[in-house]
Amino acid sequence: MCPARRKNRFAVFIVLAALASLVLYLLVTFGPTLQSLLESRMGRMGSQADTIVRGLQLLVLGILAFLVVRALNFLIFGLFRLRSGFDAPTLMRNVFSIVTFTILFLIIFTIFFPNVNLGALFTTSAIFGVIFGLALQDTLGNFFAGISLQADRPFQVGDVIVVGAQRHTGVVEEISWRAIKIRTFQNHIVLINNSSAAKEPIEVCPRDNLNARLVFFGTLYTDSPAKIIHVVREAVREADNVSQRISPIVRIRNMGDSAVEYEVKYWLNDYAKYNDTDALVRQRIWYAFRRAGLSFAFPTRTIHVERKTAGEVGRGSAVTDRLAAVDIFAPLSAEETTMLATASVSHVFAPGELVIRAGDPGSSMFVVHNGRVSVQISENGRPRMVATLNEGDFFGEMALFTGEPRTASVVALEETEVLEIGHDAMKRVFETNPDLVESLSHIIAERREGLVARTEQSPVDRETSAGLLSTIKRFFGLS
Ligand code: CMP
Repeated sequence: MCPARRKNRFAVFIVLAALASLVLYLLVTFGPTLQSLLESRMGRMGSQADTIVRGLQLLVLGILAFLVVRALNFLIFGLFRLRSGFDAPTLMRNVFSIVTFTILFLIIFTIFFPNVNLGALFTTSAIFGVIFGLALQDTLGNFFAGISLQADRPFQVGDVIVVGAQRHTGVVEEISWRAIKIRTFQNHIVLINNSSAAKEPIEVCPRDNLNARLVFFGTLYTDSPAKIIHVVREAVREADNVSQRISPIVRIRNMGDSAVEYEVKYWLNDYAKYNDTDALVRQRIWYAFRRAGLSFAFPTRTIHVERKTAGEVGRGSAVTDRLAAVDIFAPLSAEETTMLATASVSHVFAPGELVIRAGDPGSSMFVVHNGRVSVQISENGRPRMVATLNEGDFFGEMALFTGEPRTASVVALEETEVLEIGHDAMKRVFETNPDLVESLSHIIAERREGLVARTEQSPVDRETSAGLLSTIKRFFGLS
């Protein structure tokens, strides 16, 4: 309530209290005079004059009692507000007022009319009770539903709630003896009867809770999920009202007809502002996409024409350049490197994905084109990192050149593109470059040493590079 209105109400209260006190004073002082006046004027009914005067006094005292209850209500719940920092529920205030007033009034009544048996008055008026009960059926239903809502306290003023099948959504402003008052996000007021609310499911988003929201968007199939997830997460976590306590989650929810469909789950500081925050999150995603060169999807039909695009030609030369920079392929001629590049197949792995598994058979090797991988062996059932390989490094050569199972697992540490080179392509290269076999056998022997040192294999299992050379030659049918 605004201070000006509070001041006005206080003034009205003081004026009313003064008036009632004055009238009561006059009725008490001039009560006997008024009574004898009434007796003389009312003739046969004169015996009722005393009851009329007492009735008037009771009425004015009743008004004063009402004002006292209001004052008490203001003091007690004002104190409650000061100590707890929020308003007590309206229903509680109303129940307090009704009960206190009834007690006060009954006390005054028995003082003024000691001969009237109140118990008998209430019990004998059964018909009155039935009529009264029927008339107040809905009101009493709301009242008791309101009391049970207060007792359960499933939500409080300031919480966002969604009520019933009609999904009335808004911030709770008041819970009175009749209804729950919510303010919708269009700034309308919706009143929901307590008795209806008690029957309906209510979704509560408490004010002091980290409530989450989901925002959806779709991207082209050509855009990489790892990149999208990173870009969107970073863009959303900085938006206003997005909680810093939990990092937003970005995940693929569906592979649609014309889009990879994503959802962002984020948590809000103030849930009541979710419409604005959803909009801000979408805006941030749009700008982040623009900066990162990503594209939103819209319903499209793509016709694939099998023709090499300039991009693919450029990509082909990038692959050739990558292979030419790998140290073991340095002795190869430009034609041989191009042949290897043409024969290679590119694969993209998500962060954490397994590229090869220890113990599997393998007939190809890999060159890291983009990203990073980790070579891991299993130690007491737990993965242990042996080496990290970066762009231009290769792996998988041991199984390819010796025919033995994979000696270790290789896992992508980030989004990684690898170029896979198969047995046949390598055989062709070996035939024209016999020296390559020798340098490879040195590298394999070195890597094996690394593995032996970590796994504490017995020296018997170790193989020299000379031994490896003849194994590789035999395996590839080279002289
Ligand atoms: P391969 O055995 O075919 O499969 C697992 C691969 O991990 C292996 O070939 C090597 O390429 C690689 N690898 C194994 N040990 C090491 C090491 N010590 N350093 C780098 N790479 C390794």
